[in-house]
Amino acid sequence: MKNLTRAPGLLIAALWLHVVAPAAAADTLYNDLGGKEGVVAVVDQFLWNLADNKQVSHYFVETNLERFRDKLIEYVCQAAQGPCTYSGDSMERTHKHMGVTITDFNVTVESLILAMESRHINTGVQNRLLKALAVDYAKVVQE
Ligand code: HEM
Repeated sequence: MKNLTRAPGLLIAALWLHVVAPAAAADTLYNDLGGKEGVVAVVDQFLWNLADNKQVSHYFVETNLERFRDKLIEYVCQAAQGPCTYSGDSMERTHKHMGVTITDFNVTVESLILAMESRHINTGVQNRLLKALAVDYAKVVQE
């Protein structure tokens, strides 16, 4: 009898694990950025901001922008725990001989912040993306 009275509780627990737990697991930075559509919109605005900024736009004169955009979307998506696998070159290899300065890096970060602002992404979410990308600082900047 005791076991029978517990049964509804067990059923509810099983349902919770099945229905609620996967939703909780999907609570990622990627989703907070607005999923695929949000990541693409942020990257696109970021690229416009870079193109508009004379401090850094010269770096991209010979860049294949279509590839750069695709790889950057993958990279940001993966860094935000989204369902993507980055397939581009390593950060060291890509930026090694560019001579990127701290100022260039800061201007690039600012361009990304402005892109997120334009999408009305809140500061907490912005900071989580900046943190996820900041790990690459030493691979990009030549001090
Ligand atoms: C955390 C900071 C950064 C990240 C995560 C990042 C990420 C990337 C990624 C994913 C690519 C594509 C690589 C590929 O095509 O396989 C790339 C390319 C590139 N990045 Fe960065 N980047 C960062 C900072 C910078 C900065 C500060 C500059 C210069 C101001 C810069 C300049 C470039 C250029 C010029 C390319 C294209 C290279 C080419 O033409 O092949 N990046 N970056």
